[in-house]
Amino acid sequence: MNKTFKRTLITSALPYANGPVHIGHLAGVYIPADIYARYLRLKGEEVLFIGGSDEHGVPIALKAKAEGITPQEVVDHYHAIIKKSFEDFGITFDIYSRTSSEIHHKTAAAFFRKLYDKGEFIEKISEQYYDEEARQFLADRYITGKCPHCGNEKAYGDQCETCGTSLSPLELIGPKSTLSGSIPVLKETKHWYLPLDKYEPWLKEWILEQHKEWKANVYGQCKSWLDMGLQPRAVSRDLDWGIPVPIENAEGKVLYVWFDAPIGYISNTIEHSPNEWEKWWKDETTKLVHFIGKDNIVFHCIVFPSMLKAEGTYILPDNVPANEFLNLEGDKISTSRNWAVWLHEYLEEFPGKQDILRYVLTANAPETKDNDFTWRDFQARNNNELVAVLGNFVNRALVLIQKYFGGQVPVCGKLTSYDKQTLDEFSRVKNELENYLNHYHFREALKEAMNMARIGNKYLTDTEPWKLFKTDPERTATILNISLQITANLAIVFEPFLPFTSEKIKKMINKQGWEWKELGRVDLIETGHVVNTPELLFEKMEDEIIDRQIKKLQDSKKANESKKYKTVPVKADVAFDDFTRLDIRIGKVLDCIKVPKTDKLLQFKIDDGLEGRTILSGIASYYQPEDLIGKNVCFIANLAPRKIKGIESKGMILSAENSNGQLVIIQPEIEVLPGCEVK
Ligand code: MF3
Ligand code: ZN
Repeated sequence: MNKTFKRTLITSALPYANGPVHIGHLAGVYIPADIYARYLRLKGEEVLFIGGSDEHGVPIALKAKAEGITPQEVVDHYHAIIKKSFEDFGITFDIYSRTSSEIHHKTAAAFFRKLYDKGEFIEKISEQYYDEEARQFLADRYITGKCPHCGNEKAYGDQCETCGTSLSPLELIGPKSTLSGSIPVLKETKHWYLPLDKYEPWLKEWILEQHKEWKANVYGQCKSWLDMGLQPRAVSRDLDWGIPVPIENAEGKVLYVWFDAPIGYISNTIEHSPNEWEKWWKDETTKLVHFIGKDNIVFHCIVFPSMLKAEGTYILPDNVPANEFLNLEGDKISTSRNWAVWLHEYLEEFPGKQDILRYVLTANAPETKDNDFTWRDFQARNNNELVAVLGNFVNRALVLIQKYFGGQVPVCGKLTSYDKQTLDEFSRVKNELENYLNHYHFREALKEAMNMARIGNKYLTDTEPWKLFKTDPERTATILNISLQITANLAIVFEPFLPFTSEKIKKMINKQGWEWKELGRVDLIETGHVVNTPELLFEKMEDEIIDRQIKKLQDSKKANESKKYKTVPVKADVAFDDFTRLDIRIGKVLDCIKVPKTDKLLQFKIDDGLEGRTILSGIASYYQPEDLIGKNVCFIANLAPRKIKGIESKGMILSAENSNGQLVIIQPEIEVLPGCEVK
């Protein structure tokens, strides 16, 4: 649809305040949103950029219980950390507020109440688990039991984290309340549901017909939800943390976190401009854009729009440019496994280097598919792109002006056809870049910005002004004037992407205040203007620094794996006589080969001090057979022989499982003679 908009309201998903933010958050949501906001502001457009913390929901309540503090204390702690990280990284929210605020409670409650009064909800009674000791209904996460699919004893009522299956608490075998440890009972409870099925025909028309321009990943997800058919969704929960359901006889019930959180965008707008907020939310000339990660698509494209539609007076999003996920060194980012690069930790290790991360995360943004962040790529992009292209050009231009003209901008003479060609190239890139930004293709846009720096670099390299100064100072002056104009252009074009760097360039040029529309001009700096002494914008990142980061991640993986190992309970007692019936001995490996056509089996020839024996053992994934030859091993000598893959195995080689789940063979501490008994 071709609407003419007068202003843009940008929202970015409200992160849960139950942990700090990491590079995945930044790459997926906040950097793209910030680039877009900065770009529009630079164009002089009216923009409001909303952020805030999502402070309700079961995980926060659970975390508080586990730590013996109140949920409010949990969110106070993380809200402060998150807010500071965003400030540190130059995310220019117009407001960063929180859903535990009074104004949000009021706004969300009023929103619910309005839908309730309009009769937009269905009331339904269902049976849910109730903890009689704790005297409360149990959210799905509060119940554990055995997973019916994989047998994991510690599956949650909403999901088994071992096999990944989504569960309902009723499917758990032997359910237990995590609050009191007691066995929960089923009890009737009432909840309010938003009948999404009622909005399905409208959603189909609005998204599938009218918003074909949405990103393929977003459109595709919406389509598959809509094709499957929508069901009514409960918008309340039995929980003691959240916004109380604002109607009579609803004690112990709060709004479902996904009902109140998106209303947070509205409350934060009200908090920011109490007198003007309706212009942002109720005027058709406002363009509403939600920046989110892919796990939020259904809530922002289907549930929240249905809520807005049900309310009746709000505008709907024009676009929802959701990103896919960012992985880290080939593995899914995980808070609980501490597999992440936390923003506050990054800044401790790389103070002042926000823009490198902003650059790498944009250049490698998961716009169309999941992407991987690796420290090697971080290093390469810093060294080969930021240092070698952008930093190098800006530095050369400014140093040469200092060197030949004492920092005073020299006169630009007549342009050669090569100069003109360079500038043409520049304006072509500018057009491409704007087109990308307008369509939320930020990584392509950044590539084009970098191409502008490349054009500058090539220009200097081709024209070699340092060789000309003696013979042709006027030509040198022209080249350096143009180079400085290009530098000023880079300060403009990089402002949305690398704001700290853009600021530094402006300081060095000793001028600022340009607008986006000036991009492409070559008269940004007048002759005679004096520039400042240049400093390097970026420095080369050495291997040691990167190695340290990789090691840090590996260490945390190891620490986490050792935490994961659970000591199994001791088996039932055996009589001493039974123990002595077991014949355990030490042998020496004479030969060891892989059993053909198997993955796991090794075939050992063991010197047992007698006539020798063959034993098969399933440790091929952990050892190279040749490495075991000559080693002492511990084996059960009187285990009844068994035929495996046609080979008779006489005994069993003993091994233990280490913290990485690998089997390691048991060896005597010093070499002993084959055949001696273990007692
Ligand atoms: N807290 C949610 C998440 O991290 C996002 C909520 S976005 C909202 O997945 F706007 F709806 F709050
Ligand atoms: Zn399972």
